[in-house]
Amino acid sequence: MSAQSLKKTTATWIIVIMTLFITAIIFGILMRLNQGNDYKMSSPGFYATMTTHGLTMIAIWSVAGMVAINYLLTRYIKVPNSLSVFALVFTVIGAAMLWYATFVGQFHAGWTFLYPLPLVKIAWAKWATPLFFFSLVVLGVGWLVWSVGLLVQILKKYSLKQAFAWQHLSKKEPEVKTPPLILISTVSLIGIILSLIVAVILLALTFAEYYSGGAFVNDSLLMKNLIYFFGHTIANESLYLGLAALYELMPEVSSRPKFKTTWYVALAWNCTMVFILTAFFHHLYMDFVQPLGLQMVGQLASYFASLPAAGVTAFSVFVLVFRNHIKWSLTNVLFFIGIMGWLIGGVGALIDATISNNVALHNTLWVPAHFHTYNAMGNVLFCLAFFYWVANEFSGSQTKTKAQQLKTALLLIGGFGFVLMFYLAGADSVPRRFSNYPAEFKSAPLMATLGAVFATIYLIAILLIFIEILRKCVKAFSAS
Ligand code: HEM
Repeated sequence: MSAQSLKKTTATWIIVIMTLFITAIIFGILMRLNQGNDYKMSSPGFYATMTTHGLTMIAIWSVAGMVAINYLLTRYIKVPNSLSVFALVFTVIGAAMLWYATFVGQFHAGWTFLYPLPLVKIAWAKWATPLFFFSLVVLGVGWLVWSVGLLVQILKKYSLKQAFAWQHLSKKEPEVKTPPLILISTVSLIGIILSLIVAVILLALTFAEYYSGGAFVNDSLLMKNLIYFFGHTIANESLYLGLAALYELMPEVSSRPKFKTTWYVALAWNCTMVFILTAFFHHLYMDFVQPLGLQMVGQLASYFASLPAAGVTAFSVFVLVFRNHIKWSLTNVLFFIGIMGWLIGGVGALIDATISNNVALHNTLWVPAHFHTYNAMGNVLFCLAFFYWVANEFSGSQTKTKAQQLKTALLLIGGFGFVLMFYLAGADSVPRRFSNYPAEFKSAPLMATLGAVFATIYLIAILLIFIEILRKCVKAFSAS
């Protein structure tokens, strides 16, 4: 692939993702203001906004990690630019279809679409249900082709064992060394491909029921399992793509030796690959018809999937920065804060994934609290670090950012303040997905208003960073 076309496609992705991100943050702030009784949305309007916000965020931060590894993998393997262009076109068309279904058709069943609600209780334009599901088909096809394409390219250079870094598990120095970027990309791409294949099955079953005119009805428990296998897995694997970029870039921008694949790095990421696929069972703890054994698998897998990867990554980053003279640029600052957000959100997730706690926290605002922490203050920052670094590549110099401390302070205060309001409300049993809180939840509106204020501070930080990235991305189109 020509370096120039790779740069142009990457710059286009960044502009599309950041524009959608800023719009989706504004939707989030409006929802919090509505929950705080500071701004009035109709109930269907709130839920249509929530559906659009949730799915747009999941979509853009899944592809952001793909954009990062797509660019960085070219250091090790050949990557045809057509894969990324194909996914870009499908993502834009899929997002436009989704927004039309939610804002014009008022489809508002949430991003996990609460089967069988969209098929049996249609509280929006009739055409919006199939349009919503077809938008998922378009998004899924684009990403499936892209992720399979990237995996095939990896396997053209590395055998499957090498891509999983199994040769690093023995004591002997391996002949072929697997870079961490290859290992983590392989593990995450396999998870993403499996989650998308499950999405294909899920959508086929949904369409079969929808077009059967009542002759065919799915099993609700099976559908819920499929929805959460897809949703939980894709959201988590996307975060690992952001980590792949961190392993590749953080030592480089800190002027430290590259991270290597050691036996414990290889072991941790292989564990993650296996266990992440069964951790989704923790979404079904309150479904009492689910076999008890699967609930126990859900709790154990939640621990085994997250702790090894978090442990080795935190250890590697600690060794990188501890007592070393680091040149802090916005890139490694964002990676570093992202690790903090990922770990804090991860602890919040494990608290909720522990069955005895889930009895109290299930479907409270604790759930958005933990996933917003490892997304808004974790994966988003890993990907922003990549965007910032690559934009500097386009402009030809890794210059120091203007007002770096101000941007960092706004991001920290706004981001952690915003999620803290979700945690406090969750600990106080305030339910999630309520457009307006019942009078019994006395402190909930105030926490929502404060959440909106902090989210606005976060938005200002994101806007300042985006303006800088945008100015540099434009250069990717003009440079020869
Ligand atoms: C400052 C930025 C953000 C704000 C203000 C915001 C706000 C919100 C609000 C108010 C809700 C509804 C919570 C409820 O009452 O249940 C929500 C849900 C959600 N948000 Fe965010 N959010 C932000 C960033 C993100 C990011 C970065 C992601 C990335 C994945 C994300 C993904 C989601 C998802 C998946 C839902 C659930 C939607 C559903 O239940 O169908 N948000 N967000």
